Amino acid sequence: MSKKSISELEEKLKREKGIHTDFKNDRTYGEYLALNEILSSQNRLSDHHDEMLFIIIHQVSELWMKLILHEMKGAIATIERGEMQPAFKMLARVSKIQTQIIQAWDVLATMTPSEYLKFRDDLGKASGFQSYQYRLIEFALGYKTPHILKIYEKNAALVAILKEAYAAPSIYDVTIAALAKAGLSINPDLLTRDYSVTYGGDDTVAEAWKTVYLNVEHYWDLYQLGEKLVDIEDWLQQWRFRHMKTVERIIGFKIGTGGSSGVNYLKQVLDHRFFPELWDLRTNL
Ligand code: HEM
Repeated sequence: MSKKSISELEEKLKREKGIHTDFKNDRTYGEYLALNEILSSQNRLSDHHDEMLFIIIHQVSELWMKLILHEMKGAIATIERGEMQPAFKMLARVSKIQTQIIQAWDVLATMTPSEYLKFRDDLGKASGFQSYQYRLIEFALGYKTPHILKIYEKNAALVAILKEAYAAPSIYDVTIAALAKAGLSINPDLLTRDYSVTYGGDDTVAEAWKTVYLNVEHYWDLYQLGEKLVDIEDWLQQWRFRHMKTVERIIGFKIGTGGSSGVNYLKQVLDHRFFPELWDLRTNL
C-alpha cells in the first residue's frame, strides 16, 4: 500500500470511527503494558507444542499472585488502621482472583501425561515449590516456612523482601489485634509475639470469635472480616486440591521435579489451616 493511501485510510478511520492510528508522539497500549517484554518471555526449553501451555499457565498464575499480594498488603495496612471497608473490598478481590487461578487448572488438564513427559526432563529441578510469590502469600496468611529463603540465597534483594515478609505480622495477626481493639479479651502475648513463628491457635481468640459470631449486630465488621478470611482460606484449599488432583492426573505418583514425594506431599500440605479458630468455630458455635 502506498504512503498516500495509508494516510487516506488513517484519515477515514479518524473521521468515521474516531480511531487514532498515528502514535509517533503518543504512548501505545503495548508500550504501557510492556507487552514486548511480557510476550517475549515464553522461552521454551524443548520444541514440544505443549510446553507453551505449561509456561503460560505458570506465568499467568504468577501475575495473578502478584495482584493477590498487592491486595493483601493493602488489606493488612487498612485493617491495622481500623479501616475495615476498604479492606473488605480488597479481600473480596483476592477471592475473585482465586477463582480465576482455580479455573486455570481446567486449561492445564487438557495436557495429557504423554504430552508432559515429552518435555518434563528439560525442566531439571525447577518446580512451583520454588515460587517465592506463593510463599509470600503464605507468609501474608501466617504460614511461615523458611526453606524458600535458602533457595534464593544468591539473590540478596529477593532474600531481603522475603525476610521482611517473614518477620511481618500476617493478616490474621492484625485481625487478632483488631479483636483486642474492639474490647474483646485477647491473650496480651499474642499482640507482641514473634511474627516469624507460624501462629498455632489460642483459646482467647477462639472465645473472641465466638462472641463475635453470637453477637453479629454488635460486631458486624469483625464478623464480616472473619467471613472474608474464611473465603480466602476456602479458595486456597480448593486451589491446593485442584493442583494436587491435576498433578495426579498428569504424573500419577511420580516424585516431583522439586524432589518431593509429589502427590503425597501435596496431600499433606492440604492439612495446614491458616485461621484455625475460624474453622473450629463452626463446630463449637
Ligand atoms: C503439569 C503441571 C504441574 C505439575 C506436574 C506440578 C507438580 C508439582 C509437584 C510434584 C509439586 C511438589 C513439589 C515438587 O516436588 O516439585 C508442586 C508444587 C507446587 N506447584 Fe506445581 N505442578 C504443576 C503445575 C503448577 C502450576 C500451573 C502452578 C502455578 C503457579 C504450580 C505451583 C506450585 C506451587 C506453588 C507448589 C508448592 C506447593 C506447596 O509447597 O504447598 N504448579 N507442583
